[in-house]
Formats: sequence, structure tokens, C-alpha cells
Amino acid sequence: MKYKVPVIPGDGIGPEIVAEGQKVAEAAGEKHGFDLEWIDYSLGADHYLKTGELVDEDTLKELSNYRGIYLGSIGDPRVKPGVLEKGVLLAMRFYFDQYVNLRPVKLLEGVWTPLKDKGPKDIDFTVVRENTEDFYIGIGSRSKAGTSRSEFEVKRNLYSVKFGLDVESDSEEIAYQIGMVSKEGTRRVIKYAFDLAMVRRKHLSSVDKANVLSDIYGFWREEFESIAAGYPEVETDYNFVDAITMWFVKNPEWFDVVVAPNMFGDIITDLGAMIQGGLGLAPGANINPEGTSMFEPIHGSAPKYKGMNKVNPIATIWAGAMLLEHLGERAASEDVVRAIETNIKRGEVRTYDMGGRNTTSEVGDDIAAIVLGKI
Ligand code: IPM
Ligand code: MN
Repeated sequence: MKYKVPVIPGDGIGPEIVAEGQKVAEAAGEKHGFDLEWIDYSLGADHYLKTGELVDEDTLKELSNYRGIYLGSIGDPRVKPGVLEKGVLLAMRFYFDQYVNLRPVKLLEGVWTPLKDKGPKDIDFTVVRENTEDFYIGIGSRSKAGTSRSEFEVKRNLYSVKFGLDVESDSEEIAYQIGMVSKEGTRRVIKYAFDLAMVRRKHLSSVDKANVLSDIYGFWREEFESIAAGYPEVETDYNFVDAITMWFVKNPEWFDVVVAPNMFGDIITDLGAMIQGGLGLAPGANINPEGTSMFEPIHGSAPKYKGMNKVNPIATIWAGAMLLEHLGERAASEDVVRAIETNIKRGEVRTYDMGGRNTTSEVGDDIAAIVLGKI
């Protein structure tokens, strides 16, 4: 069996960490009898600075022939903040309609957590973050005193929406950003979360801010309620986003699957990463169950560590395990996660963030060797 997988190493530390993820995935392939053929795509800052292009339609079309893309990280200080993040990363999430952003928050055996008296049994949940709507639709502007009119459009595979906005203001200048959720977009991600809860511990927590942003998140809550009626076995609860940050710290054991709108999902998963041991350990997957998905660490491109062979590759290796599972290689995927756990438990080969002195590639070598049973 052979899988063709596009790889986008990206910016900053991206190339270094992705190389280790490839190494470990290949080791799992060797053990489980499959081959990986990587197809390199050089998207990101260098490509943009050289060509002025973020990601073109032809590349996107080509990438959509594959089930899973392996991504390092996007973002570079030479480019204005947001240009690459929106123009490459979000552009791909939207183009491929990767409406689920799956972020496991799992404390592995042997990892230190800042939460006192909590261990691996207590910290094991998954956040399902909606990934195509909410305040991420990119609609907003500024306008100076006076009157003005703007037209905006949201184009998705599911639907398209046009907004026309008349602004009349005597403030010196205003800025605004519009958040939007659709019935289709909300229901599909909540259903995904319920299905996931059904194969886990049958508990789903919804995140909103229906007490204040009641149009957008009151709608989210209503859809959640209506879908919950079809899953009587799943226990549910609602959480305001401010409160859930408190519960993640105080009682993480309460959670099994958490479903959140895009913006809140972004925020709470950085907190999730911290309680599972840090950003160096937190993987993510952008999923379109019927199309092209994309696997990446949830951390950024850490430009100050670029080329130093210093950062922790575990989040990316773990994202690689999620990619293998998505390709149907579940046993290989589980082996990779177990090997990560063994590496951590032994504590002999680790990067600085975990109190070690080893390099990025030494950690990758160690985990690959564990997968192959060589050490
Ligand atoms: C993430 C990141 C991105 C996001 C940025 C880089 C666009 O923070 O994947 O969580 O906000 O989704
Ligand atoms: Mn984020």
C-alpha cells in the first residue's frame, strides 16, 4: 500500500519539525507495511516574498486530489502579521471546507502539567472547533466619520452570503468585524461532535456566549439543543466561554468532547495545550470528512528558533499520527502515539521545553527507533 501525501513545511521551524514527523510516519509505515510518498509544496513566506503569491487556485485544485495534507507552520516576521496566516492557512481551511478543527487535549504519561494534583486520567478530552465561520469569515472594515457603504461576500461550498452595510457615524473613526454562523455550518460540526462523543465517553459540552452575543451564539445553542434530541444517550452541558476556561483548570476531568464556535475554540485550545504540557505537545487536524484534510501542530512558526534544531517536534509527530489514522492506518497511528509516550516516560531524549538538552532531530530519531522496536 502506498499513500501520496502533500507536505507543506511552511515557515520558521516548520521544515525542521515536519522532517521529524515524516521520519516517524515512515518508520510506522515500515513496521505496518505501507509506503508514504511525500509531495513537497513550498508555500509560505519565501514563496510569497519571491512571487507575490499566497496560494493560487491551481495549487489548491491539485491539493484537493489528496485526502490528507501534512503542514508545518505558517507565519514570518518579514511579512505583515495576518497576511500569510489568512492568505495561506485560513485560505486552505476554507477552500477545502475543513469544517472540523480537531484538537485533542490529552496529558500523556510522564508529562508535567501546571495543574496541581491532576494526571493523565484527569486530562483527556477533545475539542471540536468549528473551522469555517464565526468571526473568521473575514468580514469587517473601518470607516471615518460620515456615511459609507460596503458590500461583503462569504463564499463556501455549502452556501454563499452577501452583506450590504450602510454606515453613518459621527465618530472620528470606527472599526467593525462581523461574525456569522449558518444553520448548515453549525449543525454539521455539532453532529460531528456528537458522533465523536458516542464513540468516547458519551459526554458533550458546548461552548458559547449566549448571555451576551445572543444572536450568533443563541442560535448556536438552539441548534445544539435540537441536535442533542437525536442523541439521547449523550449527556450534554452548556458553558459560557469565560466559565469554561475556569473549568479546564479546575476540573478538566469533567470533559470528554467539547464543541466550540471558531473564535472561542481558538482561544480555549491554547489553554488546552498548556494543561497537556505545553504548545510543543499539542496536535491538531483540520478535517473535511468527505474531502481533503490537513494535519498540523497547533503552535505557530516560532521564527526565533528557526534553523536551530532546538524545538520540540512532538506536536507535529502527533499530528502525523492523526494523519495516519485518517488514512486508515489506525494501528500505525496508535504505535506513534505510544512511541511518543515511551520517549517521554524514559525522559532520556528530550528538548529544552521538557527540561532536556536534545535537538529536534534527536527526538525524532528516538521516537522513530521506538516505533521500530530498535530501542
Ligand atoms: C490556530 C492559529 C490560527 C487560527 C491563526 C494562525 C490563523 O491560531 O490554528 O489556532 O487562529 O486559527
Ligand atoms: Mn490559535
